[in-house]
Amino acid sequence: MPFDKNSSITALSHPNKAFVIYWGNQNDTLRIPTRSSLSATLQGINHPLDYIISIRTAGSSERDKVIIDGTENKGEIYSHFVNHLNAMRRYTRFREKLEVTTRTSFPIGSGLAGSAASASALAEAFAGLIGKSGDTRLKSILARKGSGSASRSVFGGFVIWQKGNSDESSYSKQLFDENHWDIRNVIAMVSSSPKKIRSIEGMKLSKKTCPEHFYSDFVNIANHHINKITKALLARDIGTLGALYEKENYLFRQVCLKTTPSLDYWTKVTENILDKVANLRNDGIPAYAGTDAGPNVHIFTMPKHVERVIRTVRDVRGVLDIIHCKVGEGSHLIQDDLI
Ligand code: PMV
Repeated sequence: MPFDKNSSITALSHPNKAFVIYWGNQNDTLRIPTRSSLSATLQGINHPLDYIISIRTAGSSERDKVIIDGTENKGEIYSHFVNHLNAMRRYTRFREKLEVTTRTSFPIGSGLAGSAASASALAEAFAGLIGKSGDTRLKSILARKGSGSASRSVFGGFVIWQKGNSDESSYSKQLFDENHWDIRNVIAMVSSSPKKIRSIEGMKLSKKTCPEHFYSDFVNIANHHINKITKALLARDIGTLGALYEKENYLFRQVCLKTTPSLDYWTKVTENILDKVANLRNDGIPAYAGTDAGPNVHIFTMPKHVERVIRTVRDVRGVLDIIHCKVGEGSHLIQDDLI
């Protein structure tokens, strides 16, 4: 379908949580990772976690325009979007300047960066504009250019990002769709402050400064974890999945702490929540906790245990909010035009 120069196109996307974590690149310019990763795409149940982006060509304008929740942005967010647009234009040889309008239902000040959701929504809308909506591989490559984990949010369900070794071979694929297995993710929100060191900078530091065997062991174990987790997903085995999820998180934490300067993304509240989750397991509740590059805690559990998990972590001092998610759908175009 050729693009219509005058009309806008709108996409919606969601975040995802990695079981096997992406942290570092073979090639920073192209964002080709050192290890493959595996995640579940997350859709909010008690609170929507939607990122919506409309784009249209900016007519004769010589610059892109970015409007965030009704206000034109000319700062850091603008630069981030323009860098992503430039990378997508280079890859597809599309030339036009664009007007980008965004709306998010992520809790304001939640500390949930939503970079996976925003970059995959932008890639989805961009692909729609150039008539390539059906090309999931292209969409994943385009999303990767804005944020690594965004390459996975193009798909719903359980998703693998195969690291590849070139721009064309580094993209994600769906392993199982969102209806394969109803597991839940309870996010305990701990902080509303921006990260001291952004992921993209943190992972560069880890690769550069971590003692050699630490980082290479972390890289080398990824495929083994991916194989085992894929089997656990196929068998719908929460115990095996959860144990591997926590092991990956432990390794990731060690890599962060062995980085110079040390990347300690946790707070005391994070640790208290992790203790509570370990206690729940001692009581026979299958609940497994991990973090991203930040203090918020993602707890995977089964639907019938969600209430107990929420009750347990809600009362930890310092928990700001709880978001209950199911395994959700990937990025897609919608009719709701923001422009
Ligand atoms: O997606 P990026 O480029 O912002 O990197 C973030 C990576 C982590 O969220 C920390 C881990 C992951 O695999 O999602």
